[in-house]
Amino acid sequence: MIDLRSDTVTKPSAGMRRAIAEAEVGDDYLDGDPTTVKLQVKVAGLLGKERALFFPSGTMANQAAIWALSEPGTEMYADYNSHIVDREMAAAAAFAGVQLRPVLGDGPMMDSVALEKAMRHPSPYLPRATLVCLENTHNSAGGLVTPLAGVKAMAQVAWSRDCRVHLDGARLWNACSVTGTAPGEFGAFADTVMVSFSKGLGAPAGAVLAGDEDVMEKANEQRKRLGGVMRQSGILAAGALYGLEHNMGRLAEDHAHAAQFAALVDRAIAATVMPPESNIVMIDLAPGMSAHDVAARAKEAGVLVGVWTPSRIRAIMHLDASTSDVDHAGRVVLAALDESWRALGDTSEWPTVPGIR
Ligand SMILES: Cc1ncc(COP(=O)(O)O)c(C=O)c1O
Repeated sequence: MIDLRSDTVTKPSAGMRRAIAEAEVGDDYLDGDPTTVKLQVKVAGLLGKERALFFPSGTMANQAAIWALSEPGTEMYADYNSHIVDREMAAAAAFAGVQLRPVLGDGPMMDSVALEKAMRHPSPYLPRATLVCLENTHNSAGGLVTPLAGVKAMAQVAWSRDCRVHLDGARLWNACSVTGTAPGEFGAFADTVMVSFSKGLGAPAGAVLAGDEDVMEKANEQRKRLGGVMRQSGILAAGALYGLEHNMGRLAEDHAHAAQFAALVDRAIAATVMPPESNIVMIDLAPGMSAHDVAARAKEAGVLVGVWTPSRIRAIMHLDASTSDVDHAGRVVLAALDESWRALGDTSEWPTVPGIR
């Protein structure tokens, strides 16, 4: 099986497993686990923040940030399709008690114009806004990258309205690789940044939240409350450190693979491929087609892709998918798309949608 459902499916390499096995560990809650501390110090430095904390997952780190930066009974703005709005089980409402105000712009994802338009002016009749959350790269928008100027513009809108800024950088490493921007340059335009190690960097688990001392003290409190304090967490932190040291430089390979995969799949009779900017490829199907059917046909032929919505397939490139795997997978998914379209029978009378041939 070639598994392109996510970049989280990678298995730790022999080198990473060795680093994990040899990690120096201690009780992170009692004295600070030495390998975890090393990771936290390194990532705080990379992101230009005073303090960083290791979390079991990106979701927990995002939620600790929201709790630390907002106030119950206020509202926060984030892209309509962001992970925080769409895929974190309404945790911001459940834990932080904030009202989510999803921003739907004219383009594929929130930008400063859409944010400015969406943000309500202070009024005694409206809840106060306390937080704006950004996401870079943007998962649901097909791994699109917001360049530094775009992140800066959104942060300025937020800060000018007395809101704090959290950056969900689960794939910030990919954004840095595409743009050549250093993580700390992005970090300068957010109060807190979450980065993940279990995606492109190939570690088994873990994320880091970084920010300045006062906000991280609050995040630390919430990490404990959520059960996110781990003990010999150096076992996981060693995988994250290994990923940072060995797998960062190869992310561009995943981006090239996404372009290679997209070019193959774009030949489909009845699907539109969003031109990828990083490691994610989104394939939109013609009306009447089913993403489940396409995914099932591809699986039958040995390739796993994600059903993102009933009419959208997602494929993600990662370090366990070689150039020849990607070539093979692209051909299999192309065949699955065409077979699925033909199985619908006579479609000559169907309306066409822009971009679908
Ligand atoms: C943009 C984004 N943010 C946050 C997360 C959550 O990370 P985790 O799976 O580690 O909780 C993901 C996971 O895919 C993601 O894509």
